Amino acid sequence: MKKPYEKPVMNKLQSGLMNKFGRNPAYARKVRKEIDKVSIDDLVAEYGSPLFVYSEKSLRRKYRQMHSAFSTRYPNVVFGWSYKTNYLSTICALMHQEGAVAEVVSQMEYEKARALGVPGEKIIFNGPYKPLAALERAVAEGATINVDNMDEVYDLEKISRALNRQIRVGIRLNLDAGIYPQWSRFGFNLETGQAMDAIKRIANGKRLVLNGLHCHIGTFILEPSAYVKQVEKMVAFGYEVEKAFGFSIEYIDIGGGFPSRNCLKGTYLPPDIAVPDIDDMAEQIGQALSRSLRPGDFPKLVIESGRALVDAAGYLITSIVASKRLVDGTRAYIADAGVNLLFTSFWYKHNIELDREVAGVNENCVIYGPLCMNIDAIDEGTLLPPLTRGTRLVISPAGAYNNTQWMQFIQYRPNVVMVGEDGTVDVIREAEDLSDIVRREKLPERFAVKSR
Ligand SMILES: Cc1ncc(COP(=O)(O)O)c(C=O)c1O
Repeated sequence: MKKPYEKPVMNKLQSGLMNKFGRNPAYARKVRKEIDKVSIDDLVAEYGSPLFVYSEKSLRRKYRQMHSAFSTRYPNVVFGWSYKTNYLSTICALMHQEGAVAEVVSQMEYEKARALGVPGEKIIFNGPYKPLAALERAVAEGATINVDNMDEVYDLEKISRALNRQIRVGIRLNLDAGIYPQWSRFGFNLETGQAMDAIKRIANGKRLVLNGLHCHIGTFILEPSAYVKQVEKMVAFGYEVEKAFGFSIEYIDIGGGFPSRNCLKGTYLPPDIAVPDIDDMAEQIGQALSRSLRPGDFPKLVIESGRALVDAAGYLITSIVASKRLVDGTRAYIADAGVNLLFTSFWYKHNIELDREVAGVNENCVIYGPLCMNIDAIDEGTLLPPLTRGTRLVISPAGAYNNTQWMQFIQYRPNVVMVGEDGTVDVIREAEDLSDIVRREKLPERFAVKSR
């Protein structure tokens, strides 16, 4: 059989290909033929490509590992599953089975949690925009509401007057924990006195009763000391508020932000080195709590971890559909999944594995998606051997934020499956077809397309 023509390639000689420990890991071919013992071939044959695959085993293991890291160090811990990170019903239901309450940041997410059967008392309602109707429902159903701004205070006071009863609320703080740029757009600032002023106003209004403090300092926090500062400031502020207004702070919600083992673009060290161990994080947070809380005080510690719980459990399988050389000589591949599905490729350099052994010289490649849009590149600068059409890439970690931030733009969204602990595979979200795209559209009669 005639071999396909491959243009000769000149590669700069690289020192360090071999060292005394063996091969340079950057050059090692990463091959993955299965996910939790289910073959990639079988998955694609049955459910198509592209395909999102979740591992139930990984999800449950991560949840239990992280929950025990905190609950063995502090006696009163509650996890709030951050819906925005992944609100596929099966993922949320699994988190609730493991014991998490729901943490939602919009009316849509609130409704999603309720539709799943989560009672109001097991919902934490955060976010900068809570429409009045959503607030009314959340109050009626006993949800935990963390207030973001003064307008929300006025809305809640209005609801309180209408119900003729006081409403218990928490407030969201923003503070300097050494993470810059500081996230100051959510909640009330601690250091400038804005938060204290807001609480003064809440106390004077006599309609709301403050019972909790919430703060999410940012995301992908690699520095445990930031949480230490956050916890110390929150506890000290809680005592100040209790003393000044007689409120009793029942929970300290430290938000999420714990990193997954993904590779944040621009991070020099690989994730295995850069990302601190969760036990270390939990230890430092636990110690900060015991240092700052008075003996016998154990307010509820709420943790809203998102990516650290779900990212590693998700994989995106995509197939090479074409290859080409760019004018500068770079080898480019076109895959059937792009930024429409892997939104997080804007900030992560994902791990890319091949579904088979491939011989040939590694080249620096760019991987484009199927969108007719210049920014649709899911990876630039990965060394890959010559890939033939149909070769599949297994991209991970892909479990956080992709199935919520994905776009339905010129392509259908594909199947999402879950590999169960016993190896069974379930579709947890069906691939879309045209009916999903046009379902909500209305075509006025006068625009009807005439065939002639
Ligand atoms: C209020 C709140 N809690 C929790 C999270 C989850 O964050 P992460 O995925 O970084 O743990 C977010 C994400 O932005 C958030 O805004």
